[in-house]
Amino acid sequence: MATHKNDFLVLGSGIAGLVFALRVAGAGGVTILTKKRSVESNTNLAQGGIAAVFGSDDTFRLHIEDTLRCGEGLSDARAVRRIVEEGPALVRELAEMGVRFTRKGRRFDLGREGGHSRRRIAHAKDATGREVERALLHAARSHPNVTILEYHQAVDLVRGEDGQIWGAHAIDLSSGRVATHLARYTLLATGGAGKVYLYTTNPDIASGDGFAMAYRAGARLANLEFMQFHPTCLYHPKKKSFLISEAVRGEGAVLKTVSGIDFMKNYHPMKDLAPRDVVARAIDNEMKMRGDRHVLLDLSPISKAKIRNRFPNILRSCMKVGIDITKEPIPVVPAAHYICGGVIVDAEGRTSLPRLYACGEVSHTGVHGANRLASNSLLEALVYAAAAARSVTGAGSGDRIPSRLGRFRRRTARSGERLEIRRNWDLVHTLMWDYVGIVRSTPRLKRARRELALITRDVDELYRRLSLSGDLVELRNITLVGSLIVRCALRRKESRGLHYLEDHPRKEGAAGRNTIVYRRKID
Ligand code: FAD
Ligand code: SIN
Repeated sequence: MATHKNDFLVLGSGIAGLVFALRVAGAGGVTILTKKRSVESNTNLAQGGIAAVFGSDDTFRLHIEDTLRCGEGLSDARAVRRIVEEGPALVRELAEMGVRFTRKGRRFDLGREGGHSRRRIAHAKDATGREVERALLHAARSHPNVTILEYHQAVDLVRGEDGQIWGAHAIDLSSGRVATHLARYTLLATGGAGKVYLYTTNPDIASGDGFAMAYRAGARLANLEFMQFHPTCLYHPKKKSFLISEAVRGEGAVLKTVSGIDFMKNYHPMKDLAPRDVVARAIDNEMKMRGDRHVLLDLSPISKAKIRNRFPNILRSCMKVGIDITKEPIPVVPAAHYICGGVIVDAEGRTSLPRLYACGEVSHTGVHGANRLASNSLLEALVYAAAAARSVTGAGSGDRIPSRLGRFRRRTARSGERLEIRRNWDLVHTLMWDYVGIVRSTPRLKRARRELALITRDVDELYRRLSLSGDLVELRNITLVGSLIVRCALRRKESRGLHYLEDHPRKEGAAGRNTIVYRRKID
């Protein structure tokens, strides 16, 4: 098995991985492993934009208050203050390196989204992520110290006997070969886990690989029960997983039942711009009460010219499936969107395992608490990637990678029945949707735990028997991440933010506690 060495190993080429890579590249060689084409990431699909204080009527205090209110007593106030205060300079830096944000004169044009008391979302029309990803990838590809290896999927971290992390084992998906990539520092920037659920706004890459690898290596993770369901995913058989940005409601669109009743006024004083957990539960409730398969997003309060100018991507994508959003409402449903919990990191992005850092959606910084405020995730990824880069570049370069490190162990692996992979995958994401969704109950969570235990046995056996493939690695990971979400959900005997439990419908006090999971015994 081949072994490669570099100073820094970055797993993932979304905003977190690329910002970190560009900032450490002056101090050493960087290898980025990314499991599909580099552009394929949650970052690339981000629509609304990046929340940061630029408006003349806005202040750090207001952004902090909005974030804390949304986090429902579980956000870490220091971490929140930090992203709010450090964010604007980093957004300006993105603009300086070529991200073409939409402008109003020389200033950023600021959008509004749910839970925000002010307009504060810097955006590139309705395809902000694509623009950010384009500019960052261009810079990374142009940097002589950065090597990007596409179709390289990390399978597990390399853990030394003393618990330090020295890189990752990865499969080259084009040849099927596994190699070991060693580094002085490793950054997990593998994004989210939407694919654990049947319906999601996330692309295929979001199978929770980083959470699973970190857990297997012994890292501490927190609050995985807080899966955020975005209220408005397009409901159409030909176009799954397409998000209709909250910015559309920010410009005046209104949610209605299929029979035309605007219902959000019955649920929250902020109506259609209430925090996401409230809106998603309201939609779920209306659909269940009325037996409807979706609700409608009515854009008629927005002028046609504004729709064309502000939401060209959504207009085009809906038109492709025969919906003209300048003339008719959009059928929408909630879908799994963002996981607020993750691998616990400190203020510098350090995990509980020496030499392993984590940034972006895979990490748990404490910012989002029980519910993330819209457009705070790109901001958090930016701020923590910069902090992690400062931390590793300031740590000196004298330390040497040990020569004897654990090899990648697999028993005799044979090709076999791939159908079993797909079948188990369907079982996991269907049961997560049915039993661990927007509205939960202890009996349904226990049922999910029982069924996941059986699936885990089956998947472990498949992992030993079949030759290694991207699908098999992902199946093993979504099964583990699903089980960890259920474990966290069963520990939280209250309803808070995104975790709504029918049999415990109230919060246990104003300030909440984090649910922490880790593996006690490492092989
Ligand atoms: P990602 O951008 O998801 O990148 C993860 C990378 O890791 C990918 O390159 C992937 O291929 C790679 N990877 C994964 N597993 C492996 C592996 N095993 N080995 C190697 N590589 C691997 N947030 C906002 O703040 N504002 C928005 O407007 C917004 N809109 C959104 C719209 C949509 C449709 C979605 C899905 C999310 C949105 N979010 C938004 C959330 C935000 O986009 C993400 O949280 C953020 O982009 C995550 O960045 P990241 O760098 O952590 O991960
Ligand atoms: C959106 O544009 O609605 C997504 C914003 C986010 O997830 O932060």
